Amino acid sequence: MKVLNIGSLNLDYVYSVPHIVGAGETLASRDMNVYLGGKGINQSIALAKAGANVYHCGMIGDDGTVFLDACKEFGVNSDYIKQTDTKTGHAIIQIDDNAQNCILIYGGANQQLTKEFIDDVIDKFDKGDILLLQNEVNDIAYIVDKAYEKGLTIALNPSPYNEKLDAVDMSKISIFLLNEVEGEQITGKKEPDEIIKSLLEHFPGARIVLTLGGDGAVYADKDTKLTQPVFKVDAVDTTAAGDTFTGYFLAGIIEGMPVENILRMSAKASSIAVTRKGAIPSIPYRSEVEY
Ligand code: RIB
Repeated sequence: MKVLNIGSLNLDYVYSVPHIVGAGETLASRDMNVYLGGKGINQSIALAKAGANVYHCGMIGDDGTVFLDACKEFGVNSDYIKQTDTKTGHAIIQIDDNAQNCILIYGGANQQLTKEFIDDVIDKFDKGDILLLQNEVNDIAYIVDKAYEKGLTIALNPSPYNEKLDAVDMSKISIFLLNEVEGEQITGKKEPDEIIKSLLEHFPGARIVLTLGGDGAVYADKDTKLTQPVFKVDAVDTTAAGDTFTGYFLAGIIEGMPVENILRMSAKASSIAVTRKGAIPSIPYRSEVEY
C-alpha cells in the first residue's frame, strides 16, 4: 500500500524569543535558524522514517531544491514534487522560553498546484492506497473529490483550519487527524469527548485521532475509544510534534498494528521530536522509537 501526500514544503525561519511578540511590540530574538519544514513534507518524512512507502506531491521554487535532497536522504519519493517560478513557501516561527511556538506561513509555491497536475498524480495511484492531505496547499476540495473517485482512502489533517475547509466534502474522509483547537473550530465543541461525539455523529464511518498537547491523544471510531498519555520529556521545540504523530500513526495503520500500539508508538515519536530543534531535523527514526 502506497501513501500519496499532497502537501506543503516550507522553509522555516525559526526565532528563539523570551516570549511571543505582542501587537505593536518590537522584540530582539536570541538566535535564528533555518530548518526544512511544512506540515506536508514533515508528515511525509515521519511516514518514511516510520517505514512507510510514501510519495510526496507538492510545489517548490528554485530556492527549494534542498527538499529534493531531504527526500532522497530520508526515503521519500519526490517524483511528484514540481518546480515553479514562484518562491518556495516559508514560515516565520517564534519559539518562547516554554518551548511554545507561533507560526506565520507564506504559501508561495504551495499555492500553485494545478488541477491537471493533481489529476495526473492521483491517476498513478490505485484503489486502497492512502491520500494524506493538510490545509497548506490550494484546491484541497478538488483533491478530495478526485481521490475519492479513484477509490483512495483519504486521511485529512485539517490544519491550519480556515474557510477553505468548508468546501471539502468531509463525508469522503476516512481518517481525521486533528488537535483540540482544530476540533473546536470544526465542531464548535470545547471538550475532547464532545468533539469526538460530534465528529462521529456527522461522520460515523470515520476514524478520529484527536491530539491534546500535554494531555496526550484520543482515538475513536464507532466501536472503540482509546486514550494515550504523553511521555514526559523536557521540551525545547514543539514544532512538528503533531506532524510526527500523524506520520507514525498512519504508518502503524498501514502495517495493521493494533491501535493501542500505534498510539503508543506515535506518542513516543512525538515526545522525541519535542526534545529537538526544528521541524524535519526533529523527527526520529523508527529505531529510536521502538525500545
Ligand atoms: O506543523 C509544523 C509546520 O507548520 C512547520 O514546519 C511550518 O512550516 C508550518 O507548516
